[in-house]
Amino acid sequence: MTKKIGIIVGSLRKDSLNKKVAKYFASALPEDFEPVFVEIDDLPLYNEDLDVEGAVPEAWTRFREKVGGVDGVYFFTPEYNRSVPAALKNALDVGSRPYGHSVWDGKPALVVSVSPGAISGFGANHHLRQSLVFLNMPTLQQPEAYIGNAAALFDAKDALTEKTTSFFDLITSKYIEFFKKLTD
Ligand code: FNR
Repeated sequence: MTKKIGIIVGSLRKDSLNKKVAKYFASALPEDFEPVFVEIDDLPLYNEDLDVEGAVPEAWTRFREKVGGVDGVYFFTPEYNRSVPAALKNALDVGSRPYGHSVWDGKPALVVSVSPGAISGFGANHHLRQSLVFLNMPTLQQPEAYIGNAAALFDAKDALTEKTTSFFDLITSKYIEFFKKLTD
């Protein structure tokens, strides 16, 4: 049966490097896996006062249902001030509630940080991993995916070099192996 991988990108901007990398990873999934892009840009900031019958924002419900329907999750994150963007943290928070009904629980995750800088989003990558521990999402450890100098990875047509795609494909194959070990 086809397995669904939710693709969540922490950048909201149109020409995001993270979105470009995410698109490549989505296209490289094996045939029996389906990518499901999950948007996070319309989620109101999490507020427990709204998480009661009759007040729950429609966007939260849509998001929870969509993540609830996937089997694993790929996260692509920029680094904002050495951490994850607020939009991505908000999405984690929205999906984690109501208490006892987290849509993240037990889903195998992949964390990829993408930055035009030399430090490769290391801070964001590890802050995200810290939340995933609490959310009980087993996360691929190796190879780590710190994608630095990312603006230089794409040519004018947004194509990647073969050296880059072979590294990305190695990450995919290790994630699929990890996913199958956990779910078969
Ligand atoms: C950044 N950027 C950035 N880069 C980095 O490597 N470490 C950092 O701590 C920060 N901090 C930061 C804060 C804020 C508020 C912004 C807007 C940007 C630069 C960032 O890596 C760059 O804008 C990327 O292009 C963002 O990723 P997308 O949008 O291209 O996917």
